[in-house]
Amino acid sequence: MNITHISAECYPIAKVGGLADVVGALPKYLNSKITKTQVIMPFYNNSFTNSNTFKSVFKSKIKLGNQDVAFNIKTLVNNTLDFNIYFIDIPEFLFKEYVYSSNDTERFLAFQIAALDWLLSQDTKPDVIHCHDHHTGLIPFMLQESYKYNILNNIPNVFTIHNAQYQGSFSHDNMSLIPEFNFGKVGLLDWNGQINPLAAAIKCAWAVTTVSPSYMAELTTKANGLETLLKAEQQKCYGILNGIDWKVWNPETDSFIVENYTVKTAQKGRLANKKYLCDKFNLDINKPLFGFIGRLVYEKGSDIFPDTFKQSLTSKNHTVLLLGSGDKNQEEAFINLKNNNEGLYNTFIGYNEALSHIVYAGADFLLMPSRVEPCGLNQMYALRYGTIPIVRSTGGLKDTVIDMALPNGFGFCHENVEPQEIINNINRAVKLYNNKKEFNNVRKKIMNIDHSWDASAKEYIKLYNSLNQI
Ligand code: ADP
Ligand code: GLC
Repeated sequence: MNITHISAECYPIAKVGGLADVVGALPKYLNSKITKTQVIMPFYNNSFTNSNTFKSVFKSKIKLGNQDVAFNIKTLVNNTLDFNIYFIDIPEFLFKEYVYSSNDTERFLAFQIAALDWLLSQDTKPDVIHCHDHHTGLIPFMLQESYKYNILNNIPNVFTIHNAQYQGSFSHDNMSLIPEFNFGKVGLLDWNGQINPLAAAIKCAWAVTTVSPSYMAELTTKANGLETLLKAEQQKCYGILNGIDWKVWNPETDSFIVENYTVKTAQKGRLANKKYLCDKFNLDINKPLFGFIGRLVYEKGSDIFPDTFKQSLTSKNHTVLLLGSGDKNQEEAFINLKNNNEGLYNTFIGYNEALSHIVYAGADFLLMPSRVEPCGLNQMYALRYGTIPIVRSTGGLKDTVIDMALPNGFGFCHENVEPQEIINNINRAVKLYNNKKEFNNVRKKIMNIDHSWDASAKEYIKLYNSLNQI
């Protein structure tokens, strides 16, 4: 079976968040089963493209409204990824140092049209086209309704919602950018008076998945205005929990971390990583270290950290390290929190892949107070590295972390995004940390939980097969 994934992000090429990790990992696992998988993504001007060699395999022009836009399909000369990858090079729209900007309508429309034009030109067509998030949300519509893609419209397509918060809506004034389609079906593009790529994908895709069962259930009551649509389309919606790339996220071989370790050597290996963090960020190594890694946006709940730590750190019995970037007010508040908390608190504002791995390997606990978390990969990385998660029970966090007080529990959960609830869990965690035997037992237990893609990749293959039988 040939599967084509189309996405704006893919690790290790371009990563903003978990979408990249998923699109960089699922294809490998699919390939280890019965599929042949390729990923199509934009050609960005970033460190990956600047340090690799590419060859051109196809050249053509798309029509974007009245504009003729040249594009080039490139692939890697030496591909060491475990899947095929093709890049869409459109210099004026895609070859940028960033992945997303505040004005992406034309950029990602050009990307989607070029991807379909290229598929159209190929003799071997994919058995399934799998699109990710709203940047690829008009593909199911164009496959179904744009005349030029008629020949592709019997190819099943799957659309995965990684985050329904972002929908990519734009004005009907830009409708002419979409290749000519059956105007009687214009309603499929619309949601609340705008062209809404996410809504169009939910309406037109053969199957819609999201990245955890609990998030799927939540979307019918909380989906940024798309609740009724998701309710109406439930018969083709599936919640499939993400996995993690077992090879990339492996403390035994991870080249980013200071000392590698196994379940058996975790105590020593993790201490070396914690020492690195404590030395670098001037934190007291004898106290339990609470970490956070993430985009600083309202969804992640990180805005309540300043209030939380102003209170919790008065106890002086723990330390905190926050790694993230995003909202400027949050960044400023994180930096200001350093005042009066020397030795107990520090922050790194920015995106740093290597440092994130060391935090998973060296922090004792990982905080995720998310308001919304479709899946969340951080808690699964933390588990694999032996860092105990403290999470708000929502979306994928609810599906992957069981509170210590319950049978088979191993983490700390809270219901609300409230400083006091986090403080209560910090207190529970400090108590656990001080009971060395129990703390080490929990650590061992979480490192043995299997969240690799194996099980979920099988679910996707089942879905692809079922669509091919329609
Ligand atoms: P989301 O996709 O909503 O940001 P996920 O939990 O799915 O959340 O994935 C986040 C990914 O991005 C993880 O791989 C995490 O380690 C990484 N990440 C987030 N912020 C940073 C940062 N500032 N530096 C390094 N890695 C980060
Ligand atoms: C989104 C979600 C996150 C999820 C990731 C990968 O960015 O916010 O929860 O883990 O996609 O599916």
